[in-house]
Amino acid sequence: MKGIILAGGLGSRLYPLTRAVSKHLLPVYDKPMIFYPLSTLILSGIQEIALVSSPQHIRAFEQLLGNGDDFGVKFTYLVQDEPRGIADVFLLAADFIGKSKVALILGDNLFYGQGLGRQLARNREITGGKIFGYHVSDPSSYGVVSLGPDGQITSIEEKPISPKSDLAIPGLYFFDNEVIEISRQLKPSERGELEITDVIIEYWKRNKLQVEILERGTAWLDTGTPEGLFEASSFVRAIQHRQGLGLGDPIEARRFAP
Ligand code: DAU
Repeated sequence: MKGIILAGGLGSRLYPLTRAVSKHLLPVYDKPMIFYPLSTLILSGIQEIALVSSPQHIRAFEQLLGNGDDFGVKFTYLVQDEPRGIADVFLLAADFIGKSKVALILGDNLFYGQGLGRQLARNREITGGKIFGYHVSDPSSYGVVSLGPDGQITSIEEKPISPKSDLAIPGLYFFDNEVIEISRQLKPSERGELEITDVIIEYWKRNKLQVEILERGTAWLDTGTPEGLFEASSFVRAIQHRQGLGLGDPIEARRFAP
């Protein structure tokens, strides 16, 4: 399985912080934001990783991360020249993905939880698609999935004004190789983007989508707003300070990876 970290976009919700610097290089307590999703992919046992960013910022990622030797992985750097949407990444990374399955993590998503690496690593042999559901108090700024009494999916919506459930879809997705073909058929949404939610809906229509609820003990933080960034820094500081454990350390993640 190959991995992709999506770290482009404009970061406009964090202006002026992100006028000159990529959001994904901003500090989350004591590390650049990108270290957290990178550690999550490494913990899932993924070793071939494409880092996607804008023409303006890609060089900075290369300077920070190099070829991957420091972390026991191999990096490929890909440029997204315009923020055409999250699902655009499957088109621009089609050669990198080749015939493999692929995990996509958004560069501003932070995950933490006991046994999470092992839980995620099980998806390396995925057939179809896998998304996660995470209970949040206000799901309206996320993709939202709702489930029926038997756990069957009843709706999937992007940023609904009136969400049908409190299950947000975090920015971590596992897909088989069909994702390339599905993405090629997408049409831009009203906001002009190729939406990841439309990819997920297509897997659902094909009866090939699984949803796994992240347990209560798992933390999922989205660091794309000033509030989220501050909360994530406080969270990392509290865990590291209290438990003496590194969080979001790719070198340590490699030691624990399957
Ligand atoms: O955080 C999880 C949410 O991420 C999901 O629940 C939503 O379904 C999904 O659409 C996404 O929503 P956001 O509004 O948070 O997406 P945003 O535009 O902030 O982009 C997320 C990341 O992807 C961010 O790190 C920037 C990067 N990105 C985004 C776009 C649209 C790119 O690199 N290129 C792009 O074209």
